[in-house]
Amino acid sequence: MDKDLEKIKNSALSELENASTVDEINTLSVRYLGRKGAVTQYLRHISSLPEQERPAAGKNANQVKKILEDAIKTAKERLEDIREGSESAGIDVTLPGRPALQGTLHPITQINRRICDIFIRMGFDIAEGPEVESDYYNFEALNIPKYHPARDMQDTFYMSDNIVLRTHTSPIQVRMMEQYAPPIRVVAPGKVYRCDSDLTHTPMFHQIEGLLVDEKVSFGDLKGVLTELVHQVFDTETSLRFRPSFFPFTEPSAEVDILCVMCRGKGCKVCSHTGWLEVLGCGMVHPAVFENVGYDTRRYTGFAFGMGVERIAMLKYGINDIRLFFESDDRFLRQF
Ligand code: DAH
Repeated sequence: MDKDLEKIKNSALSELENASTVDEINTLSVRYLGRKGAVTQYLRHISSLPEQERPAAGKNANQVKKILEDAIKTAKERLEDIREGSESAGIDVTLPGRPALQGTLHPITQINRRICDIFIRMGFDIAEGPEVESDYYNFEALNIPKYHPARDMQDTFYMSDNIVLRTHTSPIQVRMMEQYAPPIRVVAPGKVYRCDSDLTHTPMFHQIEGLLVDEKVSFGDLKGVLTELVHQVFDTETSLRFRPSFFPFTEPSAEVDILCVMCRGKGCKVCSHTGWLEVLGCGMVHPAVFENVGYDTRRYTGFAFGMGVERIAMLKYGINDIRLFFESDDRFLRQF
C-alpha cells in the first residue's frame, strides 16, 4: 500500500481510539471521509497517476475508506454502550467530578512532632514502649507500691490484676534504664489511658516523657532544658515557674507553670485568674527507681519530666474542649 495512504489510515484509527465523545468522532469522520477529507482527496489524486498504477491504488483507497467507516461506526456504538450503562446505573456522566480532598496532619501529631524535634536538636533520642503494660513497669518500678495512696492519682484501666493500660509514659523510663547503661537521654511520646472524661480529660490522651541520666546532672540542667522547650514551643516571653510538688518517682518533684499565654499574667478565665498555667510534672529521678534498675545511685543522678500533648496543643491554639481533637470533624481539623 502507498505510504501516504498507510499514514492516513493509521492516524485516523489512533485518533478514533482516543475520541471520547460523539462530537469528536463526527469531526474525525469529516476530516478523513468528508468532501475535503484526507481519504477523499487521496481518491481524487488517483486519476493523475500513471494508468497501470490506478487500479491497485483505487482498490487500496476504497479498502481504507471501508475500514474507517466501520471503525467510526464501532467507536460510536462503544460510546453509546457506556452512556446507556451509566444511565441505567443512575450515573450522570456529564456532572463535574468531585475534587479529592487532601488530608492534613492531626494537630496532636503536629505538636507531638514539634516537641520531639526540639528535643532531638538538644541531643535526645526517641523511645517507645507498650500501651498495655504490667503493673510492675507502670507502678511498682516507679516507686508506687500496690495499695499505696499514690495510685489514686491515676484512675487506672485494669486488664487483669497485673496488667493495665499504661496510665502514663513513665514506664518507658524504667524500660530504657533496664536496657541501657548511663548516660541516657531520651524522650518517649505515646498514648496513655485513664478512666476520666470531661472538658479537659479524655480516656485516651498523649504524653511525652523525658529522661536524662548521667554523672553530675542537676536540677539546674532540668530547668535549662525545660526553659528551652517552652521558649521554642511558645515564645521567649513565656516565663516558667517551678512549683514544689510530689511524684513517687522523683525527689524533689516540681510542677512547671508557664505565664498564661492568653493574658500574659494579668489573670483571665483560662488561668483561673492566677496568671499561670500548669503544663508538666518533673523532678530528679528518685534513688529507689535507680535501685530498681540496678543503677549506681552514688555515681548517677538524673531528671525526668512528663507532659500532656493535648494540654499543650490546647494552650497553643486556644482550644477549650479537649474532645474536639477526637471527633474527626474536618472543619475543626483543617484549621491547623
Ligand atoms: N507521669 C506523671 C503523670 O502522668 C507525669 C510526670 C511527673 C512524669 C514527673 C515524670 C516526672 O517523668 O518526673 O502524671
